[in-house]
Amino acid sequence: MRILFIGDVVGRPGRSMVQDYLPKLRKKYRPSLTIVNGENAASGKGITEKIYKSFLEAGAQVVTLGNHAWARREIFSFIDDAKKLIRPINYPVGTPGKGTVSVNINGQEVVVINAMGRTFLADIDCPFRAVEEAVEEAKKRTPFVFVDFHAEVTSEKQAMGWFLDGKASAVIGTHTHVSTADDRILPGGTAYQSDVGMTGPYDGILGVEREAVLDKFLTAMPVKFEVAEGRTQLNGICIDLDDQTGKARSLQRIMINDDHPFYE
Ligand code: FE2
Repeated sequence: MRILFIGDVVGRPGRSMVQDYLPKLRKKYRPSLTIVNGENAASGKGITEKIYKSFLEAGAQVVTLGNHAWARREIFSFIDDAKKLIRPINYPVGTPGKGTVSVNINGQEVVVINAMGRTFLADIDCPFRAVEEAVEEAKKRTPFVFVDFHAEVTSEKQAMGWFLDGKASAVIGTHTHVSTADDRILPGGTAYQSDVGMTGPYDGILGVEREAVLDKFLTAMPVKFEVAEGRTQLNGICIDLDDQTGKARSLQRIMINDDHPFYE
């Protein structure tokens, strides 16, 4: 079982990278399952139904979200019908959508879970308890469980990795948009990376036009963020899981930009 995960797709530049490179990546790595984090896909915040469908058409089987899940009002009109779109599982009871999805890969079930950290983000339900319950439920049926942990701080992300070591197949972080060089397999067999990095503008600040971000830091005045233009990047990770145990066997960071060219 091989899982390809593409990090936070930001705006049109990110969507273009997915269109251009996802088919090439799928050809090169031949993943059994492809997952895309799309919470920044619509102009940097949120997702539309059209974009969600375009990711599926490009080869993704699951799309995950995060703190910007509700940024586009349109989400409420389609999230309950979007079978392969998940939002953080630890949103309060009654929140639209779902936080976990099952995918059938050649007769084998893979469960994908999206959760969100609480440090410097919304104070929602406990991600640890919510994910623990979902993982235990999934493990009754399958050894393959992938967790996208959308969180701000590495301490909370590492805590989740160790918390699920030996339980989930992979705990991969999203949200901070910078690929971290700590991809590893924890002793219990869980693939871990604090953050997979973003897909979109390469020369912005976390994908946003630099001038506005600098203005904010220099003046502390409210500013409007726009998705940056220019050069682009794609970041992701490819994880191999043992077909019997679901434990991670190897993992490989994927980084595509002008400084790290893609080789077919
Ligand atoms: Fe986020």
